[in-house]
Amino acid sequence: MQDGVPSLTAYIIPSMLQDLAVETSPNRHLVPAAARGYNDLFVEWCRKHDDKLRNGARTTSVEQRARGYDTSVGIGVREHVALRKIAIEKEARKAIEDGASQVLILAGGYDTLALRLSKEFPDVQFIETDHPATQVEKLKALKSGDEAIPSNLEFIAGDLAKNSIGEVLGDHFNTKAKTFAVAEGLMMYLKPDDNLKLLKDLKTLLPHGSQIMLGNMDSFEIVKKQEELAKKRAEMAKERGAPMRQDEPYESCLAFSDAPGYFTKLGLEPQVSYSYLGLQSAIRSEDNQAELAQIQETREHYYLVKVPEGKPQATSFVEEKVSNEVEKLKSEVSILSTVVKTPGEFQL
Ligand SMILES: C[S@@+](CC[C@H](N)C(=O)[O-])C[C@H]1O[C@@H](n2cnc3c(N)ncnc32)[C@H](O)[C@@H]1O
Repeated sequence: MQDGVPSLTAYIIPSMLQDLAVETSPNRHLVPAAARGYNDLFVEWCRKHDDKLRNGARTTSVEQRARGYDTSVGIGVREHVALRKIAIEKEARKAIEDGASQVLILAGGYDTLALRLSKEFPDVQFIETDHPATQVEKLKALKSGDEAIPSNLEFIAGDLAKNSIGEVLGDHFNTKAKTFAVAEGLMMYLKPDDNLKLLKDLKTLLPHGSQIMLGNMDSFEIVKKQEELAKKRAEMAKERGAPMRQDEPYESCLAFSDAPGYFTKLGLEPQVSYSYLGLQSAIRSEDNQAELAQIQETREHYYLVKVPEGKPQATSFVEEKVSNEVEKLKSEVSILSTVVKTPGEFQL
């Protein structure tokens, strides 16, 4: 991240979700209805106020953008982002039901989870952190849309490459409250040592029984490939007269098979793993097999880990839990696919 420059990848997320939610999209039900207005607001704000986005994003159609994302990031990447958000929301709701009274969103970007859930759960304290340059744009966008921020939602800015999460949160964080923390789309932008430090600090800050949901890219092979694609994309954009920023390189990855050992070593208890294929299996159908077969480019996995009472046990949780969770998610999404035909919201 460059100082003073809002994150481009943060903007890409609501932009992808906005495109996924258009009337003609077969997977529009993957974007909660309550999130759509916020996505529209953030995309509109960024396109109006970010010079670098103005030319490119405004002049392309949904279809052109979809093709752009599919070729540069991976086919189905918009669905992947929507699915990872469904998995996170599902776990967040479960954690609140199980007694979490604090939700901490790290590097929130233009995510809508804290904005939506803080209204629904007034007794739960929500904290959202992000890099200052991005967070200030989110707050301005919310103000421009006359969107009130609930009193149980606090935004705190801080650069996690420069300051520890403890320093960023200061005394705004209740170290006694059982917490559900989220690091979505963040770890890959931090160096391995910063990730280690972040997780160690979270383990110290969060009381026993708290949970952290986080994701990372699978391998450096894919990281490098993505970088090459990003460079190509930037060159093409430059030729079109719409230069892109190259200030958010991937810095780290975590192989799916290494994840349980990595967390256990850190003293965190692995609970559920959402592999990218597991997430996608929820939207596989006979019609889109071939298309989704190429989604491999989006090798980003998500993990739910717990701050345990004692020393965490190394378990062979992966296969069992993944298949269980995928089956659950699959049935939820397929139920939703049918619900979607009736007007109403996407319910987890
Ligand atoms: C891909 S976006 C993800 C946004 C959001 N979590 C989501 O998934 O919709 C990456 C986010 O990481 C944040 N970020 C990157 N480097 C950071 C750093 N050093 N400190 C704090 N935030 C950082 C950016 O500001 C941006 O909001």
